Amino acid sequence: MSAKSAASILFVCLGNICRSPLAEGVMGQVLAERGLAGTVRLDSAGTGAWHVGSPPDPRSIEVAARHGIDISAQRARKVRPEDFDAFDLVLGMDASNVANLRALSRGRPNIHLFLGHALGRAIDVSDPYYGQGDGFERVYHMIREASEALVPLLAGRTVSEPNKGQASSIR
Ligand code: 4NP
Repeated sequence: MSAKSAASILFVCLGNICRSPLAEGVMGQVLAERGLAGTVRLDSAGTGAWHVGSPPDPRSIEVAARHGIDISAQRARKVRPEDFDAFDLVLGMDASNVANLRALSRGRPNIHLFLGHALGRAIDVSDPYYGQGDGFERVYHMIREASEALVPLLAGRTVSEPNKGQASSIR
């Protein structure tokens, strides 16, 4: 990773209202628990534009809140071409997200399946949007496990601490 780039991760799903806003929030919480709040730039986006400008789905807001995370201020946006340069890692929630991202990015190498990259398991965080029952809770736990596994993979990257203007390393 080049020295110019702070560690940064863009989480991507289809609508940017269910899975990826939750991933952004959960990863932020995991980093905060490790004393690394603000050291990784986090964002989320969707490959689809249907929900641009909307807050996360109420079920995602609720499951996040149950686990002590407030994602209600997030607003959905669509993936932009410049995202592939602006983020070190672009992590798709499922295989179709990854395929769409690879097509949009014309083969950039920083696009991965979230659980594949974090856990070495090529499985999807499946879309809970149309599902019933505990889908959002299951999504939360998958994202939480993968987020915990992601932190040590970021070790050694140079990051900017926004309020200090200094460089430091994630350990
Ligand atoms: P997400 O879930 O990709 O996790 O945000 C979805 C939200 C909305 C739709 C599909 C998936 N939709 O078709 O509107």
